[in-house]
Amino acid sequence: MINKVVAANWKMNKTAAEAQIWASGLIESLDEIPSDVQVIVAAPAIYLRELGQKFRDQPRVKIAAQNCHHEQKGAYTGEISPSMLRSVGVDYCIIGHSERRSMFLETNELISLKVKACLEVNLTPIVCVGETLAERESGYHYGVITEQITAALTFANPEKPIIIAYEPVWAIGTGISATNEQAAEMHALILGLLAQYNFTNTPVLYGGSCNDGNAAALFSMPGISGGLVGTAALNIRSFVRITQSFS
Ligand code: 13P
Repeated sequence: MINKVVAANWKMNKTAAEAQIWASGLIESLDEIPSDVQVIVAAPAIYLRELGQKFRDQPRVKIAAQNCHHEQKGAYTGEISPSMLRSVGVDYCIIGHSERRSMFLETNELISLKVKACLEVNLTPIVCVGETLAERESGYHYGVITEQITAALTFANPEKPIIIAYEPVWAIGTGISATNEQAAEMHALILGLLAQYNFTNTPVLYGGSCNDGNAAALFSMPGISGGLVGTAALNIRSFVRITQSFS
């Protein structure tokens, strides 16, 4: 089981040249990254194949897509399927990121189908869950996370690996991360839900303004297996420092 993970989510950032510079920087920095840390790079789909080839001989670096369709093939113009991602060497796929839930109207039901489609072809889903500020302020954050996790696991199976990322929506891209205690509380809730469904070895990552200044404190909290990092992962030096933040 992997229990120290740092995943970069580039979102819709970087030209092809910038992607290459970042990837070369990561290869040059691999000696500085602790050997027990799994690094995952979630890049725009157009770069995945080339990145996969670049990291072919680096088992500690895995490539992730940021989204996929819930069918393996068909008349879905503009979409990319889990089996296509597998065919170009992609091992992970972010599913249900809050930006996709809010801007692309992805529902818990659709996300459960995407998880199913990923698992069918052994593409490990990194399922994002998280509450909005309004949901937290109304005290419904426990309920939201419970619904999101329950839906995500509908077609999952403890035999097939899956990663969960707790990303409070109010912490994403705001510079205001959850406190260590807030994060630990929600991770404990998620781990309890996972255990109910017999998922006992599932890493739960924290995401939302995680950076090289707060990662060490967050990663030292019980139940936090690492981070899913947006803004602070765009710079290779700060990303490498985050990979060094486990105690
Ligand atoms: P930031 O690190 O920019 O807050 O983004 C987090 C995120 O959404 C990762 O998926």
